[in-house]
Amino acid sequence: MNILILGSGGREHAFALKISQSKLCENLYVAPGNGGTHQVATNVSVSPTDFQSVKKFVLDNQITMLVVGPEDPLVHGVYDFFKNDSDLQHVQVVGPSKEGAKLEGSKEFAKQFMQRHGIPTARYESFTKETVERGCQFLSTMQPPYVLKADGLAAGKGVLIINDLSQAQSELRNMLLNEKFGSASQKVVVEEFLDGIELSCFVLTDGKNYKILPTAKDYKRVGENDQGLNTGGMGAVSPVPFADADFMQKIEERIVQPTIAGLKKDSIEYQGFVFIGLIKVKGEPYVIEYNVRMGDPETEVVLPRIESDLVAVFQSLRSQTLDELTLQINPESATTVMMVSGGYPEDYEKGKIITGVENVSGSIVFHAGTARKGDDLVTSGGRVLAVTSFGKDFKEALKKSYENIEKIHFDKMYFRKDIGFDL
Ligand code: AMP
Ligand code: GLY
Repeated sequence: MNILILGSGGREHAFALKISQSKLCENLYVAPGNGGTHQVATNVSVSPTDFQSVKKFVLDNQITMLVVGPEDPLVHGVYDFFKNDSDLQHVQVVGPSKEGAKLEGSKEFAKQFMQRHGIPTARYESFTKETVERGCQFLSTMQPPYVLKADGLAAGKGVLIINDLSQAQSELRNMLLNEKFGSASQKVVVEEFLDGIELSCFVLTDGKNYKILPTAKDYKRVGENDQGLNTGGMGAVSPVPFADADFMQKIEERIVQPTIAGLKKDSIEYQGFVFIGLIKVKGEPYVIEYNVRMGDPETEVVLPRIESDLVAVFQSLRSQTLDELTLQINPESATTVMMVSGGYPEDYEKGKIITGVENVSGSIVFHAGTARKGDDLVTSGGRVLAVTSFGKDFKEALKKSYENIEKIHFDKMYFRKDIGFDL
């Protein structure tokens, strides 16, 4: 069959590599893709949120499976667009319906979903312009630090954690009255701060059955020791050493099962990934957030560990026969280290020539912000390359990634040297 992947990051390169290895895949396309996806697929100059152009490409190229990488097209309803168009109904979309994508697209929707289905999460209330003073009052009843979350998508920047009460109150006013995050902060969730260690649990569901995929932990801050600004993610480790069998059982029983059952109960169509951001507080798991896609860079450590044919696994979503499959998982550890442009996540330069990727051995280099310019590979984004390796434990895997990074060069490149420091 012919398959189209939407997206352009390291996550989509990891999907493309894995799907290209499937016997079920004839022609593989990535829209828009990057300098790495073009080695295993055909890049297509179509925007993932331009559904009419996606439709034209799908019909012109007999695509029968659409794999959606990022959240934007899902939140904008790409699943429903395909379902409701008689020319496109035969195409399988891997990803949730627009209603399901609200789990990521609206923090308030996600909190109400968790409350309704008894899923452990931080205590919260949500506020609008009209109730801003009540919100400030609510803040004064809480213990610092204060957690403020813009309800809508804010490119990963919509969460503020503030120690000082009056500053938190003034930020709440800023978000609601001045739309600090645009329409995303017309509503704000104020919640209790949870103090613990984070990890991510990835689940694939056909709407009825589910499979828990390997766990991963990502490193979001730009600086070592988790200092500095938040980024999309600077590296990841899978599996997470502290997610032992006992803890995983708690996650499955208290969080995964009620989540999948909740989707069914609420009649939400969902055939895709659920990415559950978790925090372990005194040995107990709580949900920090849902995402309705895979994580980036977590995908660069989770997918390489899945040995099963990913296309066959995806096909079982459509037929709701995921329960008939056994996933083969590589028991080794995988790590990835992100190489980023100097200055990221703030301003950075693009177009720097990247050299040495061909000298890497024993690691996989996933491209994120790269492009081809003539014969050159150049930087085209903040996160540039993710270098993934395997080892008997994460330390051995990391050593390989760091050794191979030494062979790669571009002007002003930067990477964290302490991935896994807290494990
Ligand atoms: P989110 O966009 O919801 O993932 O939030 C971004 C980050 O803020 C998370 O990865 C956590 O590190 C942090 N965070 C969010 N909610 C809480 C909370 N209730 N308690 C502590 N940290 C939080
Ligand atoms: N790495 C976090 C995310 O993909 O949201």
